[in-house]
Amino acid sequence: MSTAPATFSESVEHIIDEFSVTPNPHPASEADRNALIGAPKFGTVFTDHMAAISWSRTGGWDDHRIVPYGPLAMDPATAVLHYGQEIFEGLKAYRHADGSTWTFRPEANAARMKKSAARMALPELPTDDFLAAVAGLVRTDQAWVPTFHDSALYLRPFMFASEPFLGVRSANEVEFMVIASPVGPYFSGGVRPVSIWLCRTYHRAGPGGTGAAKCGGNYAASLLPQEIAASKGFDQVCFLDGGEGTYLEELGGMNIFLVKADGSVHTPELTGSILEGVTRSSILQLATDRGHQVVERKIPVTELQEGIVSGEITEVFACGTAAVITPIGRMAGQDFDSVIADGDPGTLTMALREELTGIQYGLIPDRHGWMQRLA
Ligand code: COI
Repeated sequence: MSTAPATFSESVEHIIDEFSVTPNPHPASEADRNALIGAPKFGTVFTDHMAAISWSRTGGWDDHRIVPYGPLAMDPATAVLHYGQEIFEGLKAYRHADGSTWTFRPEANAARMKKSAARMALPELPTDDFLAAVAGLVRTDQAWVPTFHDSALYLRPFMFASEPFLGVRSANEVEFMVIASPVGPYFSGGVRPVSIWLCRTYHRAGPGGTGAAKCGGNYAASLLPQEIAASKGFDQVCFLDGGEGTYLEELGGMNIFLVKADGSVHTPELTGSILEGVTRSSILQLATDRGHQVVERKIPVTELQEGIVSGEITEVFACGTAAVITPIGRMAGQDFDSVIADGDPGTLTMALREELTGIQYGLIPDRHGWMQRLA
């Protein structure tokens, strides 16, 4: 059900037209592309092109271009390699039954990238340029948007300090780019209840830090805890607040929700060290629409532990663009190990997942006007 065409403003279309396009001289053949699109592992296959816009302190944003996908030549002194001045986004392009291609709330990603840029002393990219780069790339590589169930073209906009300079200050030269990767479910084995290790030793972010920005450093900080969790046999790690180590924060690449027996839906409030997920805010809206009480608040980890055991917490799930809505079936830490609702994925969890993906894939009406047609 691709309802009313959600078209871009004239100013966005104008910027899309202004992108120079250098076609890839060696695009994947149709047979190779189809084989690659079927590759099951998240983030390992990329399309024929990438979009880029360059910034300099004197010239602003310039040189809008779509070029063949390929390695970047970098001076070893490039600032991002030393001080990590970098931010990124994640959104998806979805194929609808009529062959059209759509994306979900791209303005929210553009707005979040501006916030991340402000925190990381990077230049703000105007929303229209962000949308034009995403749309221009998807239109160029639309044959790469998968058609099969639970698959999409994952879009990864990112921005980094490209100036070769070793002084510690914000860069005078910056690149914004978008790459695209056909993906299926984020977790191996498809949509299934995942297991979470609660990390008490390390924090991903702290008060006054960069936790609310989508910057690479936050994800780098999550890698060792993630490895520890994986070595214990868990799919993901959950972090507690960096101040007291008392409250649930997020999973590093995903937000977390609890559902209580009374039907209320709870998620950690945005304290400044949690990423404001676009999927998170969409779930808050969809659960409210369904008549659930929706609560954003500080959630003590003890409440989670005790609630799972007592049965007061009936469902727990993770969410994000990559993870969509993924049920959590087991949570454990140094002093507890609990299976949630006998490993059942959860009625509300799966209903929200079905509704959200139904909107994204054009199967049910988009009553909030979240979908944007790309091609
Ligand atoms: C996303 O969900 O888009 C993310 O950024 C999470 C992860 C793949 C880093």
